[in-house]
Amino acid sequence: MEFFDVLRTRRSIRAYQPTPVPAEAIEKIKEAIRLAPTGCNFQPFRFIFITNEEVRKQVAAYYPGKWLGEAPMLVAVIGNPEAAWHRRDGGESIVEIDVAIAMEHFQLAAADCGLGSCWIGAFNRKGVNQVLNIQAPWSTVILAPLGYPAQDAAPRTNKSDEELFSFID
Ligand SMILES: Cc1cc2nc3c(=O)[nH]c(=O)nc-3n(C[C@H](O)[C@H](O)[C@H](O)COP(=O)(O)O)c2cc1C
Repeated sequence: MEFFDVLRTRRSIRAYQPTPVPAEAIEKIKEAIRLAPTGCNFQPFRFIFITNEEVRKQVAAYYPGKWLGEAPMLVAVIGNPEAAWHRRDGGESIVEIDVAIAMEHFQLAAADCGLGSCWIGAFNRKGVNQVLNIQAPWSTVILAPLGYPAQDAAPRTNKSDEELFSFID
């Protein structure tokens, strides 16, 4: 797909067919994640691809939307704030920025493969960390279902140019 077609095609999908995700698609998605930039190239994250039904359902139970457990694959992205680059002025870890960029590479690669996904931030981190046995300083930053869409995405509105952009000439 052309780059801008991928950008236009990627939408948040909240209903999935049970068809498994093909292994070739996972390889493309892994490559897209590897190509993501990270602060100082520290790559302070891991992507955990879960197909095991019991584990998927246990993780999905920590998110209010029942549809999450129906996707044939659930991806948990864990980050280590101590292993990420830290800002020089305030000392904060930029782990969430690194994860966000890699996650969007994943989302765009999934769209390019004809697969649906959705960023999931509204989950209970403590619960998901327990299910996946994630030990501090690591923690789950974001989740994403992955699979073939079972319905079209909801209509979306975008802010106006005036609200989104300014130029200093
Ligand atoms: C950081 C982040 C967290 C999100 N968390 C959730 C979530 O918990 N549940 C959900 O249904 N969608 C979630 N979304 C998806 C947004 O609602 C969606 O991207 C937005 O409405 C725009 O729609 P689109 O992705 O189809 O363009 C999240 C998106 C981002 C970027």
